[in-house]
Amino acid sequence: MCGITGYIGHRDAYPIVINGLKRLEYRGYDSAGIMMYDGETMHLSKTKGKVSDLEIITNREEERKKGKIGIGHTRWATHGVPNDVNSHPHFSQSGDLVIVHNGIIENYDTIKKELISRGYEFKSDTDTEVLVNLIEEVKKSEGCKLGKAVQLALTNVIGAYAIAVFDKTKPNEIVVARLGSPIAIGVGKNNEEFFVASDASPFIEYTKDAIYLEDGELAIIKKDKGIKVRKIENDKEIDANIQKLQLSLEQIEKGGYDHFMLKEIYEQPKAIIDTYRGRMLANEGVIRMAGVDDNMSKFLNADRIIVIACGTSWHAGLVGEYLFEDMARIPVEVEYASEFRYRNPIITPKDVVIAISQSGETADTLAAIKLAKSKGAFVFGICNVVGSSIARETHAGAYTHAGPEIGVASTKAFTTQITVLSLIALKLAQAKGTLSTSAVNKYLQTMQQIPAQVDKLLQIDAQVKEIAAVYKDAKNCLYLGRGFNFPVALEGALKLKEISYIHAEGYPAAEMKHGPIALIDENMPVFVIATSKGHYEKVVSNIQEIKSRSGKIIAIVTEGDETVKEIADHVIEIPDTEEAFTPLLTTIPFQLLSYHIAVMLGKNVDQPRNLAKSVTVE
Ligand code: M6R
Repeated sequence: MCGITGYIGHRDAYPIVINGLKRLEYRGYDSAGIMMYDGETMHLSKTKGKVSDLEIITNREEERKKGKIGIGHTRWATHGVPNDVNSHPHFSQSGDLVIVHNGIIENYDTIKKELISRGYEFKSDTDTEVLVNLIEEVKKSEGCKLGKAVQLALTNVIGAYAIAVFDKTKPNEIVVARLGSPIAIGVGKNNEEFFVASDASPFIEYTKDAIYLEDGELAIIKKDKGIKVRKIENDKEIDANIQKLQLSLEQIEKGGYDHFMLKEIYEQPKAIIDTYRGRMLANEGVIRMAGVDDNMSKFLNADRIIVIACGTSWHAGLVGEYLFEDMARIPVEVEYASEFRYRNPIITPKDVVIAISQSGETADTLAAIKLAKSKGAFVFGICNVVGSSIARETHAGAYTHAGPEIGVASTKAFTTQITVLSLIALKLAQAKGTLSTSAVNKYLQTMQQIPAQVDKLLQIDAQVKEIAAVYKDAKNCLYLGRGFNFPVALEGALKLKEISYIHAEGYPAAEMKHGPIALIDENMPVFVIATSKGHYEKVVSNIQEIKSRSGKIIAIVTEGDETVKEIADHVIEIPDTEEAFTPLLTTIPFQLLSYHIAVMLGKNVDQPRNLAKSVTVE
C-alpha cells in the first residue's frame, strides 16, 4: 500500500505532487508528506492524517511549495504507528538523501543494528529510514553515485519496495526502484520532465507515455537527459519500455457524485457492457477470449480449477465455482490466496489456477501465483488494472474493463469479475459440450439484458435509502443466501462491515440452524436473498424460521413475488434472469444499502478506517 509520487522538470512541482497524492490516497491515508527542493534547500512537510492535513502545513509558508523537484507520500502504516515522525519522506543521517517508500523491508532490524554500530541514529520506527541510511552508508563507503548506491543497497534488502530517492548533492536526478510494489514513470516531451507515481493517475493530464518498472528494476531519471533502466541484481542496463496510457482524467474524477463508491455503483451497467463487449456475439452464440482460446487445451485437460483471490475478488471466485461446476462440469476449489501460499498446497501441471484481483497488486495473490507457477500449474489472471503486476505475472488472462475503481469498497470490480467468469464458464461449456448450443445462446442473450436490468435496479436507490435509515443503528446484521447467492451474502456483509463498521456476517441460508440462529431476536436485521430460482422454497422456510424468532427480515426477491412479501418486513425486487446471473443483480441493493448506511453514520465512505485499496503487504 502507500502511494508515492514525484516530479522533476521545468514546472512547479508542488501542485503536481500534492494533487498526485490526493489521487493516490486510495492506497493509504494515515499520514502524508512532501519534500520540495528549491534549488538549494530541501523543504520537508509531513504529518499524521490525510493529504488535506498536509496542505494545512504547506499553506502556512510559501517556501514549502517552491521548487521544480518534489517527492511525496501518502501512508498506510506498517512499521511504526501513524504519527508525524514516522510519516514519509525520510532523510538520511547527513540530511543529503531523502526517500519515499511503499512496501516492507523485512530484514530492516538486522540492517538497523549494523548501521547503529556504525554510528547511525534513528528518529522514526520505520524500515524506510533504515533503507535511506543503508543507501547513504553504501554511497559513502563505495564512493559511488546515487544510482549505484541504491542498486548495491537493494541487493542487501529482503522484502518489497517501490522507492523514490533524491540526493541534494546531485540535484538533477531521482532514482526509483521496485520489487513487489508498483511504480510508473511518466515521460514528458523531449525528456524535459518526468513524473513518478504508484500508478499513472497523478500524471495522466501531463503525459500519456509511461514506463512501468518490472520487479527487480531500477531507473535513474535525469531532467533533460532521460531515463536509464537497470537490473538491480547485476546493474545491467536494459531497454525502457514506453507504453501509451489508455486512462483518461475523466475516469479518475468523481463526475458529480458525492463519493467514488456511488459513482462506481452507478457505472456498473456500462462496466458490464465494456467487459463483455467484443467478447460475445449473443445472437451467433460466439464467445471470444484470446487468453482462453489460445490455451483451450490447458482448460479442457485440467483436473480441476483452483481460484485464488482475496476479499471481494474471492467472493467473485466463489460465484465462479458455481458457474464452472454448473455449466462446464469442471471441479473447482476456491482458496484465500493468503492461506494457499503458506499451506504447502498440492498443485500439479494438470491444474489451472485462476487468480482474480481488481488492483492486480495484492501481495498475497501475487505470491500464490508464483507458488502455483513454480509447481507447474497454468495460471490465468482476471485483473482490472492494465499492466498490473498480476496481469504480468500470469501466463494468460482477461481484463475486466471496469475502468478505475477508486472507492476502497469494491463494487463494479465484483460484477465485472463475475461477467468474465460467466463468459469463461460458458466458453468451456461450449467447448466441452456440457451445455447445448441453444442453452449457451440463451445464456448469452440473457447476459445482454443484464446491464439494462442493473440500470433499472439502480432506480430503487430511494427505497434502499429508506431501509438504510431504519437499520443504520443496528449493531449486528446477518446476510443469508444459497447457491449462486451465498457468495453475494458474504459480499453484502463485507460491504457493510468495511464502510459502516457495523458487524455483519454472511452465511449460506441453511447453515443458520447450525449456530447463527441463536443470535436472532427483535434487534437482528437479516438480509435474505430469496430469488425465485435459487432453492426458493428452502429459503422461504429459512425466512419463516427467522420470523418465528422475531428477527427483522429484509428480503431480495424476484419481481412479482407475493409469498415473501407476506412474511418479510421489507422486500426489494430484482428483475428476473437466469439463476446463474442473479449475483449480478442481487449484489446491487446490498452495495447501495452499505453506502447509504455509511453516509448516514457520517463515515468516510471512500476511505474507510484502517483499509487501503490495494493491499501490497502480507
Ligand atoms: O485488488 P484485489 O481485488 O486483489 O483486492 C482484494 C481485496 O483486498 C479487496 O477486494 C477488498 O476486500 C475490498 N476492500 C473489498 O471491498
